[in-house]
Amino acid sequence: MRIAIVGTGYVGLVSGVCMSDFGHDVVCVDSDAAKIDRLRAGQVSIYEPGLDDVVARNVRAGRLSFTTDLAEATEDAQAVFIAVGTPTRRGDGHADLSYVDAAAKAIAKTITSYTVVVTKSTVPVGTNRRLREIIATENPEADFDVASNPEFLREGAAIEDFMKPDRVVIGVESERAAEIMSEVYRPLYLRDFPIVITDIESAEMIKYAANAFLATKITFINEVAALCERVGADVKEVAKGIGLDGRIGNKFLHAGPGYGGSCFPKDTKALARIGQEHASPMQIVETVMKVNDEVKRRMVEKLRDLCDDSFRGKTVTVLGVTFKPNTDDMRDAPSLTIVPTMIGGGAQVRVVDPQGRREGEALLPGVTWHDDPYEAAEGADLIVLLTEWNEFRALDLPRIAASMAKPRIADLRNVYHRQALWDAGFTNCAFNGR
Ligand code: UGA
Repeated sequence: MRIAIVGTGYVGLVSGVCMSDFGHDVVCVDSDAAKIDRLRAGQVSIYEPGLDDVVARNVRAGRLSFTTDLAEATEDAQAVFIAVGTPTRRGDGHADLSYVDAAAKAIAKTITSYTVVVTKSTVPVGTNRRLREIIATENPEADFDVASNPEFLREGAAIEDFMKPDRVVIGVESERAAEIMSEVYRPLYLRDFPIVITDIESAEMIKYAANAFLATKITFINEVAALCERVGADVKEVAKGIGLDGRIGNKFLHAGPGYGGSCFPKDTKALARIGQEHASPMQIVETVMKVNDEVKRRMVEKLRDLCDDSFRGKTVTVLGVTFKPNTDDMRDAPSLTIVPTMIGGGAQVRVVDPQGRREGEALLPGVTWHDDPYEAAEGADLIVLLTEWNEFRALDLPRIAASMAKPRIADLRNVYHRQALWDAGFTNCAFNGR
């Protein structure tokens, strides 16, 4: 089957590459010529474990190619996926659909035989119907259907998530489109992964509801963590104790410095807007957004407490600044709030991050970048474990404590045991909710 993917960002690239790995003939198209040149040369512009190997394998097999020419990509394609960005529109919290609309218009002009135009980008409810109008107006002769096929992959685990999904959601309004979409995902049917075929509005809603629910779950445990600190409970024990209840589940119950990334902040905001517009406010989601901001402020207060109530003149070593491990993505990372506040308060901040420097240099002015956590800890007044990269999970704690001006650590991801920190000489340590 021939498939075209418009947009080679995170979702577009991973989806296209994985679909070619299913055995489909996939052409990925992007208007960014430099990006396409790099992809043709085998250079993957995002950091995603394993992705470059899958790209190379499928390019070699002749199933995957890259172009800037939309018409060439969509020629004979039975399914054309729109996977362009839907950033938060400045000022009003809406998803900016201008890239999606432009892609639909461009695709419309190239349709010569029956095509399913599939939206993979996260778009507000009603968008696919609007896209259908756009395409029909642009090319009244076009024989096509629209479909919604939201993506649930996580950065850092994208290939695994795509190849072994909890479910695939497909929103369609015709049998014909359902058949083509089933063909796209046939390899997953064969392996018994559930495929939910539904109407278009429900598919659009599923994506927002899923992300908002996960953001709520994280925020709930973050708020419980704050209370645990007050009452002397341990949030890790509490999360374990509630997570064993199958109705609650143990995933996404890790207290942290607030959720970040390219999806949860954007999608909660967009869902809140959709609710307001339809006079059906999403009050829980609105509160989640507010509490998530407060979590970051609470983390800063915790760090200030550890620094004897003032950052002035302190040297702070931050381990991890990306929004989560195994990604180079800095979008809405908690570090972007926490680090500048410490610098504003007079701290000198050293940063160690296995992948964050490329994006982080522009976003975190005034910090110094280090490759080695041991070197970065020398003479420091405080270590902050902000992102739980594997590299930071088994540090030689006595060596670090001995090299610091004052051995103090804030383990905001609850990676270490209290006793291990004490034994290492970190008599002054803080956790998150313990
Ligand atoms: C999220 C969803 O998990 C994916 O299913 C979805 O497809 C994706 O958004 C999207 O809409 O494209 P992602 O943003 O890559 O994926 O990252 P997550 O692993 O969900 O983490 C999001 C944030 O929550 C991170 O800042 C992470 O540190 C934080 N988090 C996560 C916690 O603080 N605690 C947890 O228990 C889990």
